[in-house]
Amino acid sequence: MDTLRIGLLGLGTVGTGVVRLLRTNGVLFEERSDMRLRLVRIADLDLQRDRGLDLRGFDLTQDAQAVVTAPDIDVVVELIGGIKPARELVETALRNGKHVVTANKALIARFGQDLLHVAEKRGCELAFEAAVAGAVPVIKALRESLAANQIDQIHGILNGTCNYILTEMREKALPFAQVLKSAQEMGYAEADPSFDVDGIDTAHKLAILSAIAFGTPMDFSSISVEGIRHVTEVDIGWAKRMGYRIKLLAIAKRGISGLELRVHPAMVASDSMVAAVDGVFNAVFIHGDFAGTTMYFGRGAGEKPTASAVVGDIVDIARNHVFGIRRRVPLLSTQAEYLRPLPVVSMDDLVGEYYLRLAVVDQSGVLAEISDVFRRHAISIKTIHQEGRSSQASVPVPLVLVTHETTERHVRAALRDLEGLGSVREKPHFIRIERVFT
Ligand SMILES: NC(=O)c1ccc[n+]([C@@H]2O[C@H](COP(=O)([O-])OP(=O)(O)OC[C@H]3O[C@@H](n4cnc5c(N)ncnc54)[C@H](OP(=O)(O)O)[C@@H]3O)[C@@H](O)[C@H]2O)c1
Repeated sequence: MDTLRIGLLGLGTVGTGVVRLLRTNGVLFEERSDMRLRLVRIADLDLQRDRGLDLRGFDLTQDAQAVVTAPDIDVVVELIGGIKPARELVETALRNGKHVVTANKALIARFGQDLLHVAEKRGCELAFEAAVAGAVPVIKALRESLAANQIDQIHGILNGTCNYILTEMREKALPFAQVLKSAQEMGYAEADPSFDVDGIDTAHKLAILSAIAFGTPMDFSSISVEGIRHVTEVDIGWAKRMGYRIKLLAIAKRGISGLELRVHPAMVASDSMVAAVDGVFNAVFIHGDFAGTTMYFGRGAGEKPTASAVVGDIVDIARNHVFGIRRRVPLLSTQAEYLRPLPVVSMDDLVGEYYLRLAVVDQSGVLAEISDVFRRHAISIKTIHQEGRSSQASVPVPLVLVTHETTERHVRAALRDLEGLGSVREKPHFIRIERVFT
C-alpha cells in the first residue's frame, strides 16, 4: 500500500481537528482509498501551546516555508487562514508540484483564480470543500452530482455566526448588540466580528459557489454585500407578524440580463425550509434545470465538521493517486478554457418585493403624502400596517409597508424622497423579500 505524505500548516481549531481525525479514522481511509494517509510535518508559530494532542512522532516546525518545499510531502494542508502568508505558501506548494487542501475561503475567493491557474499548470489538485459550509458537501454536489444541470439559482445560509445572532434576536426579542456580545462570550463570534456580521465571509463563499455553478472565473468584487448590523429586533418582530423570518442570504441567480450576486438580510416566508434553518447551521438550496431544487444542510464550522471536509478532500486525492489520475474534475467544474465572465446585474435593476418601515407623525394627511411619493415612483403597495396612536404629534408611530414587485432603483428613489418629508422622523428601514425556490 502506498503512502500519501501530508504536511499541515496551522495547528489551530481546524488543524487540531484534522490531526484528531487522521488518527481516529486512519484505518477507514486505508480501506476506502487503498492508501495510507500519513501526517509527516506540522508547522505552527507556537509549538509550546498545549493543544490536547500528543504530537510526538511528527516533525514540528515554525517554518511553514520548509513544509511547502519539503521533498517528502505530497499534500499540503493549509489551515493558517487569511491572505498573508497563506497565499504565498499555497502558491509555493503548488509550484513545487504538491497538491493543496485548504479551508481558506478568503484566499480562494480573492486569489483562487490565480492559484487555480498555477494548479492547472502544475497538474496539481487545489481542493477547498471546507471553505464553503464546513462539513456540508456542497462543492462536491455542485461540481460532480449536479454536473448535468444548468444551474440557475443558489440560495445559502453560509455564516453560522449571523444565523445564530438572527435566531437569538427573533427568539428572545433582543437587540443585535446584546446578542453579538453574548455570542462573543460563548465563542460563537470572533472578538472582531466584522468579517461575519458585515457579510464578507458569506460573500467569499458565494464567490466560490457561483463560479462553480455558472462557469465563470472567480470574482469576489462583483458581489454586492450588506451585513446584519442594521437589522433591528423591531423589524424581526414585524417580520414575524407578517409571516416572515429574516435571514442573511447568499443569493446567486442567472437570468437573461446576467447574474445576480448578492449577500444581504432578506425576509423569507416563515413556513419555508430556508426559514427553518436556525442557530449555527448552514444550508444551501441549488436549483438546476433537470434536478429541480436540492438542499444541503449541516454544520458549517467548528473543529470536527471542518476537519471532516478537509480530510474528505485528502481521501479524494489519495483515491486519484491510486489510479494515477490527476485533476479528474475541473477545479471550478467547467474546464478552464471555457470559463467566461457573465454580466452582473446592478442592484438598482433588482426586481422584488420590499418591506419598508417608517416612523411617521400621527396626523391626518400624512398617509396621503406618503402614498403620493410611492405613486410618483410607480411603486404599488401590497400591504400597509399602522399601529398605535401617539398622543403627542412629536412622538412618531411606525408605518410598515410591503411593496408589490418593483425595482430597487424605484425603492431607493422613493426612500430618498420620504426622508425629505417633515412627517417622516427617522431614516426609513428597508429589507428585501426573497422567495427561495423549493
Ligand atoms: N474554525 C472554523 O470553524 C472554520 C470553518 C471553516 C473554515 N475555516 C477556515 O480554516 C482556516 C483555519 O481556521 P482556524 O479556525 O483553525 O484558525 P486558527 O484557530 O486561528 O488557527 C490558525 C493557526 O495557524 C497558525 N499560524 C498563523 N500563522 C502561521 C504561520 N505563518 N505559520 C504556521 N502557522 C501559523 C496560528 O498560530 P497562532 O495562533 O500562534 O497565531 C494558529 O495556530 C481559516 O482559513 C478559516 O477561515 C475555519
